[in-house]
Amino acid sequence: MEVVIVADAAAQGELVASAVADLIARKPEALFGVATGSTPLPVYQALAAKVAAGQVDVGRLKVCQLDEYVGLPAGHPESYREVLKREVLAPLGIGDSAFLGPDGGAEDLPGACAAYEQQLADAGGVDLQLLGIGTDGHIGFNEPVSSLASRTRIKTLTERTRVDNARFFNGLDEVPRHVITQGIGTILQARHLVLLATGAGKAEAVAATVEGPVSSMVPASALQLHPHATVVVDEAAAQQLKLSDYYKATFASKPAWQGI
Ligand code: F6R
Repeated sequence: MEVVIVADAAAQGELVASAVADLIARKPEALFGVATGSTPLPVYQALAAKVAAGQVDVGRLKVCQLDEYVGLPAGHPESYREVLKREVLAPLGIGDSAFLGPDGGAEDLPGACAAYEQQLADAGGVDLQLLGIGTDGHIGFNEPVSSLASRTRIKTLTERTRVDNARFFNGLDEVPRHVITQGIGTILQARHLVLLATGAGKAEAVAATVEGPVSSMVPASALQLHPHATVVVDEAAAQQLKLSDYYKATFASKPAWQGI
């Protein structure tokens, strides 16, 4: 995998938004997989600025969700569908009809998972999937010991993830226990995976992902199996990487036009 160490979240946002813009220029009807959480926000802001400046035309772009809470009432402001409408679709000027996501309120949840897999396949697969990483190494909501071959399914959140996400709710009790998430096998089918991490709190998970063994204990380590995975981290999140000088030298010697 390619590891890119950037100065800060703003530089990360600019670099990754440029990669998304390049994809859209090459393939205007691309399917862009987005993640929720705090980390990708600078990417969405930088991309929205490019759209506002007329540098990127998202008129044919499709956007899809990585995961969703189960059981929140429709329209709940912290359901990932609503979060993504607010943070991605509205700023980019993309309508609901170009947005794919699983139905976390479905009565038949296994059916909703299977339907979402089918939707992604029918849309031609994900071209670029943004990923954050949990402090426990999760991607999407694939918690430790998730099957590396898993497909979209229902998962139970670890207590650690519920505590991490309590900041978005009025306390821990409100954080749902169950989610629908694209499986690791599903995520690995995207053509380009871009994993983002910022801050020292992610340093241990990043080191295990990049330099540790492939293990279901660290779901993000499955990225080592992908032919085009890019990990973009700030200095703080990179601080436990053993080969950081090598990653920096490799990226610095890349032609500027090549991107990530
Ligand atoms: C969200 C998701 C999660 C987050 C991860 C990091 O859709 O899939 O894996 O990316 O929990 O969250 P932040 O960025 O808030 O630290």
